[in-house]
Formats: sequence, C-alpha cells, structure tokens
Amino acid sequence: MSKTKDVFLYNDYLNFLKNKRSIRIYNNKKVSQDDILKIINAGIQAPSPTNTQGWKFKIIDDQNEIYDLTLIIKNEIDEYLIKLDDGFLKQSFKEYSKNFTFLKNSPCVILLYSIKPRKILRNFFKSKLNFYKGEGSLLSLGMVMQNMMLSAYTLGISSCPLTGPLIAEKKITTKYPPPKKYELSGLITFGFTNNFPINPGRKPMEKFII
Ligand SMILES: Cc1cc2nc3c(=O)[nH]c(=O)nc-3n(C[C@H](O)[C@H](O)[C@H](O)COP(=O)(O)O)c2cc1C
Repeated sequence: MSKTKDVFLYNDYLNFLKNKRSIRIYNNKKVSQDDILKIINAGIQAPSPTNTQGWKFKIIDDQNEIYDLTLIIKNEIDEYLIKLDDGFLKQSFKEYSKNFTFLKNSPCVILLYSIKPRKILRNFFKSKLNFYKGEGSLLSLGMVMQNMMLSAYTLGISSCPLTGPLIAEKKITTKYPPPKKYELSGLITFGFTNNFPINPGRKPMEKFII
C-alpha cells in the first residue's frame, strides 16, 4: 500500500473517530436482530490476554424489560439520594445520575460481563501487580465495547457506553445473573437518533504525552 493511501486511510479513520458521539436520545426505530449480531461479531474480534475471550453479552431489546431495568437503577439512585443531606452533593448527584437512566428511551441495551480474575494468575502476579491490571479482562472488554460502538456507527446506529448503572449491580444481576465466574462490567445502549450533540472535544494531545 502506498504512503499516500495510508495517510488517506488515517485521515478518514481519524474523522470517523472524531465524529462519533455518545448518544443518549434515541428515536423509536428498532435495531434489527441482524444488526445486533453484526455489532457483537465485530466486538468479539477484540484482542484479549492469551486469547481468553472472557466476555459474555445479554441483549435486552424488549421495551418493557428495558423499562424495568431502568426502574431498578432509578430505585437504587433514589435509595442513595435519601441518605444524602440536602445540598450541593445531593443536587450534583441527582443531576449526574440522569446519565444512568436515559436508557429507558433506547431500543436496545446490551449488558456486558467480563471474566473474573483467575486464581492461577492471582498467584502468578502475587503482590507485584494490581491483580486486575495483571489479568487485563476489563481492558479487553473495553476493546470489545469500542469495536461494538464503532461498528454500530458504520451501520448508522448510535450508542453510549455506561458504567453508572453499576451502582445497582447487585439488583441488576439478581434479574440478569452473570454466568459462573463472570461479573457485570458495563452496559451499552444502541439505537437511532435525530439528535447529534456537539463534540465535547478532547484536550490537546501534548497534555497526555509524558
Ligand atoms: C467507561 C465509560 C463509562 C461511561 N459511563 C457513562 C454513563 O454511565 N452514563 C453516560 O451517560 N455516559 C457514560 N459514558 C460516556 C461518556 O460520558 C462520554 O464518552 C464522554 O462524555 C465523551 O463524549 P463522547 O463519547 O460523545 O465523545 C461512559 C464512557 C466510558 C468510556
């Protein structure tokens, strides 16, 4: 491949990455089963430590189920809010937690589970490394998630990754139990939108290179 072609590909890809936003407002168009499977198929092409592929997915695309899931999260937030005194912290959390419940308007939510650290690696890394870092399963689930969201974008499907709802992990996993040795690690909403938010931007690259 010629150098010019490489540059062209890079610039196109960079623009693609820059244009993709996290979307929290969806219209009522459904995401087809075929598209969901395409998105998951792209997700599972991600790398993982020693190719463990320690990930599982629960697809929730029934509107009533999504509503019930939102209610579980909303109840947990309310329980937490009751314990806080009126004031800045309570108000800030109330505002912030709206980003945990917008999923009620999305036509498809995927729960993502990652494999828990294995005993053999715990012994291997001992206290030299933080265990989770050594295992790398959360890192690779992040790669799966990015693959899923970018491939969805190529299909015209918007998405948003979420970890906020994990505040209600216990109650969510009572309803949607993880497979043995797995834990709930994130969610992604998928859907179509007419509402494209402005790019919140990124800091200049120089800030990150140390
Ligand atoms: C690991 C992770 C967890 C996130 N959790 C939430 C969340 O709980 N709720 C939410 O609305 N957005 C969540 N986001 C989306 C971020 O808010 C969003 O990526 C960020 O504001 C930048 O906006 P952009 O994706 O449109 O560039 C999460 C993103 C990541 C990577």
